[in-house]
Formats: sequence, C-alpha cells, structure tokens
Amino acid sequence: MLIRDATIPVRSFVDEVCQGLGNPLQKELPSKYLYDEVGSALFEAITRLPEYGLTRAEERILRRYAANIADRLPWHGMVVELGSGSGKKTRRILEAIARRRETTYCPVEISSSALESCERELDDLARVSIVGFETEYLDGLRRAASRRRSGEGIVVLFLGSSIGNFHRSAGEDFLREIRHTLAPGDAVLLATDLEKPMERLLAAYDDALGVTALFNLNLLARINRELGADFNLSRFSHQVRYNSFERRIEMHLSALDRQTVDIDGANFTFERDETICTEHCHKYTPSEVPQMAERTGFECVEQWFDQEWPFAESLLMAVPAP
Ligand code: AVI
Repeated sequence: MLIRDATIPVRSFVDEVCQGLGNPLQKELPSKYLYDEVGSALFEAITRLPEYGLTRAEERILRRYAANIADRLPWHGMVVELGSGSGKKTRRILEAIARRRETTYCPVEISSSALESCERELDDLARVSIVGFETEYLDGLRRAASRRRSGEGIVVLFLGSSIGNFHRSAGEDFLREIRHTLAPGDAVLLATDLEKPMERLLAAYDDALGVTALFNLNLLARINRELGADFNLSRFSHQVRYNSFERRIEMHLSALDRQTVDIDGANFTFERDETICTEHCHKYTPSEVPQMAERTGFECVEQWFDQEWPFAESLLMAVPAP
C-alpha cells in the first residue's frame, strides 16, 4: 500500500529555489530537489559507477552482517526506512529480520518513481507487509510511528550516508528529531561514508562518464520543466570541490558566462564562474558517530565497517531521556 497525500506543493518549490538563488554569499539549491524521476534514475546509475564505491560498500556490509544486525534488534515491530530509493540495498536486512519475525516495512520517499520501484522490488518478501509514504523524512516517520501498535518497536533505517547531505549540525538536529518520535529501546541503523583520500572522493563525484554531471544539471532542467524557468543548460558546468575544513564534497554548477535567468517572473543574474551549490556530502570518522549518538539521545551499541571503501553502519539505540 502506498500513501501519497503529502507531495511537495509547487509553491514551496518556487519559494525555496528563489530563496536559495537569492543568497548573496553563495547561491544554493536544496539537494532534495535533485531527486525527481530523471534525477532518481541518474542516481541509480551513479550507484553502479566504478568510481562511486559508497553503495557497493554498504551492500557488502549488509550482505555480510545482515544476520548479526537483525540479532541485535530484540523485538518485533516495524521498520521505517527514510529515503528508501529503489529498495535494493534494503532486501538483505529485511530478509534477515523477516526470518526472525513478521514485520511491517514503511519506506518513506519523496520521489514517487523511487517509491513505486521500491514496492515492486520488495513485494515478494515473505512475512513483510509494505506501507509506503510519499513525503519528506520526518513527516513520513511520524505518520508511520502513529500506526505503531502497543508493544511494538520501531527500527529506523537511514542508509546510503544520506545524513552526509545535511550540514553536520543539522544532521545532529535531525537525529534529535528522530529520537523525539521514538521510544526508549527503538533503534536507528545509520550509515555514514567515512573519510578517505581526496582524489578518491573527487573521482566518485566527478565520474569519467559524466553521469554525476547530468544528475547535477538535471536540477536546472527540472526547474525549467516544473517552474517554467529558462536556464540554458549548456551555459553551466558541473564542478566538484573537496572542502577539507568541513570534511565534505561540494557539488556546484558553475556559470560559464554572465547571464540572467527568469524563474516565475523573478530574475537572477549570474556572473561568469559564479556557482550554485547544489549538494554537500559530509564524510565522517568512525568515532564521530558514537559521539553524535550520545549528544542526541542514543547509544551506539555496535558498528560494522567495510575496509575496501571505508564506510560504517552503526546501530543506535534510543536511551531514556535524562
Ligand atoms: C544520496 N547521497 C548519499 C549521495 C552522496 O554520495 O552524498 C548523493 C550523491 N550526489 C552525487 N553523487 C551521489
């Protein structure tokens, strides 16, 4: 079953775009808008690129340790996945959980196409019923949690290192918000991409085939399609930077010449080489996650790592509020 009564209103899309492009210090666009139907398909392609080791690292961890992870979840209840994507990475862990108990799986996805493929992908799992929510993360989590029956627990899956797309402090605030929706004993399985040599990271976000460049440029194409803007895509280029102070990759779109763009009657001028920042991808150290957990109402009870592409899966248990 898919519940889809909370799609993004067009008005807030225009407002957020205009607000971001109006930032006098650094033009920016919210990265959540990268994932329309085209963007989600391009992101799926990115996860298969030789340079982008992140998804394969997570798949290796979940393949190797799914049973151990499921054993650490001591109760029956529901699994809520924030940003399920196509659902492929989730199969192993759901299978392991369903081998131990019946479960309700609630994927929360802002992209309707991704949510539909997720439901198709996991439809055949025995002892798993699927209730999908097409909405933003916290709204979906709250709505899923409101269906919890007495005595049931909740496991939140926040995979793919999507937390890295928040500013570091906003990521912590987000964990705190998740904690407010949960009860002591509920859990979060949190994935984080770890620090690694800069050259490896730059290649992962600027692949030779140019798929990530298309993924990035599609954001302007989406604004043209949905908001009637007149971005000329051939006058912007994909640019990737490593910010060593913030320990993050930054994706930008750089104007190749001076130009003015119209969005819904508002004009935005770009100087030559001026950029729009479209996404931040923060990288972590292994010990940062337990520290973050402690500050946000959780205890990190176990971590699993991939060595080939440094990546961590951490199990956080909600502790009673002090
Ligand atoms: C979804 N997110 C975790 C990806 C990342 O690596 O930060 C998004 C991405 N952007 C470009 N390539 C992948």
